[in-house]
Amino acid sequence: VRRILLIGVGAGDPDHLTLQAARAMNAFDVLFAVTKDEATDELVAFRRELVQRHRSVGAPRTVELADPPRPWRDAPDYPAAVEAWRTARLARWEQAIRDHLGDGECGAFLVWGDPSLYESTLTIVAQIALRGELAVEYDVIPGISSVHALTARHRIPLNRVGRAVQITPARLLAGGMPDGVDDVVVMLDAQQTFASIPADGIDIYWGAYLGTPDELLLSGPLAEMAVEIARVRSEARDRKGWIFDTYLLRRTG
Ligand SMILES: C[S@@+](CC[C@H](N)C(=O)[O-])C[C@H]1O[C@@H](n2cnc3c(N)ncnc32)[C@H](O)[C@@H]1O
Repeated sequence: VRRILLIGVGAGDPDHLTLQAARAMNAFDVLFAVTKDEATDELVAFRRELVQRHRSVGAPRTVELADPPRPWRDAPDYPAAVEAWRTARLARWEQAIRDHLGDGECGAFLVWGDPSLYESTLTIVAQIALRGELAVEYDVIPGISSVHALTARHRIPLNRVGRAVQITPARLLAGGMPDGVDDVVVMLDAQQTFASIPADGIDIYWGAYLGTPDELLLSGPLAEMAVEIARVRSEARDRKGWIFDTYLLRRTG
């Protein structure tokens, strides 16, 4: 049996690595490093540093997994495009595990934030195990997500007493705050969606590059802050070439 560890590494602050994750840095033979678009260099370097800092048993073998291109920004059929991309990814990863991980060995993926949140790594590894072409077992080590990095830095609770919270990709927020929910966490926003929804009665708690030296935090009534956040956001994105931001929209009153 080949073993795979999915290790949540936090969303940018190296001190957010849990003790369990730090210990796991010594537990694998092969590191599978997924490389994608703009942010890759910095995010790959971050993971490499974590391994160096916490591993005492010698460097692992590293296998780079170049991601297939992501066509869906222009795809007419979004779910079909995502599905095709995931299938291509699955085939590549399965082949890499077959080729580079021996029977009885352990491989690891260092997953940004927490492996359960807007991350296809876990789904793909689970599918590889389920298909049964390779005998694979896997375990998940939780990580501090960008959602919890955001609420900690703004020093706010995620939920209000006894109330629900919704976590959503920005794509589903285009029509404004969903009915019946007062607290919405928005992720994966390529369009600064917060600036184009009805703003009355909503506070925003915004964070970019959370946990890193580039961290940006802004908060206040959305009607007053939207333009300023959009300006800061686009300046930062131009400067760095990429941006990761997450925000909580909270109905007031
Ligand atoms: C593919 S998802 C991965 C989320 C990750 N699994 C987690 O637990 O945070 C990427 C999105 O997470 C959010 N994100 C990740 N890291 C972040 C950071 N350091 N600061 C702000 N947002 C971040 C952004 O909304 C980004 O678009």
